[in-house]
Amino acid sequence: MRRAVCPGSFDPVTNGHVDIVARASYLFDEVVVAVGVNKSKNRLFTAEERMDMLNEACREFPNVKVDGFSGLLTTYCQEHDVHAIVKGLRAVSDFDYELQMAQMNSSLADVETVFVPTSPEYSFLASSLVKEVAAFGGDVSGLVPDFVRTRLVERLEENRRKGEQ
Ligand code: PNS
Repeated sequence: MRRAVCPGSFDPVTNGHVDIVARASYLFDEVVVAVGVNKSKNRLFTAEERMDMLNEACREFPNVKVDGFSGLLTTYCQEHDVHAIVKGLRAVSDFDYELQMAQMNSSLADVETVFVPTSPEYSFLASSLVKEVAAFGGDVSGLVPDFVRTRLVERLEENRRKGEQ
């Protein structure tokens, strides 16, 4: 059984993420979308919300499941008998850090990183940019699944209201 993880924060999942997961699901027998739930980072969505959106976004891929992990990704891989990490590469600027992480991860566990080039139509896409565009009222349809766009707009509006109180 060839099993891989697609790790990330997915705050929130974008169409670029879905594209990478779809292609990983073609390459591997089983793919786990592993959502980092480490507490330290400031997120717009909770881990449960991010996983919930991923489950919806990936429901068309029968060999894909969504799981959360805390701590090291390599520990998750060891505990779940996973030997491949799939990462999307958008541009050369992603490569330095991704290479460093890949080498660190393979020094920690028996795991290889497989880089998949992002499809050109998503090469500029990042969750952080999508949140910023949406926060300033920009249209993010086509960048994230429709139901994610709805939840994003709702959450930003909730946060804006809370900020006004
Ligand atoms: O979507 P992101 O924020 O680029 O995802 C980064 C993620 C979660 C894949 C990365 O930060 C990670 O693997 N974190 C787990 C902690 C860990 O294993 N750190 C050592 C990396 S060499």
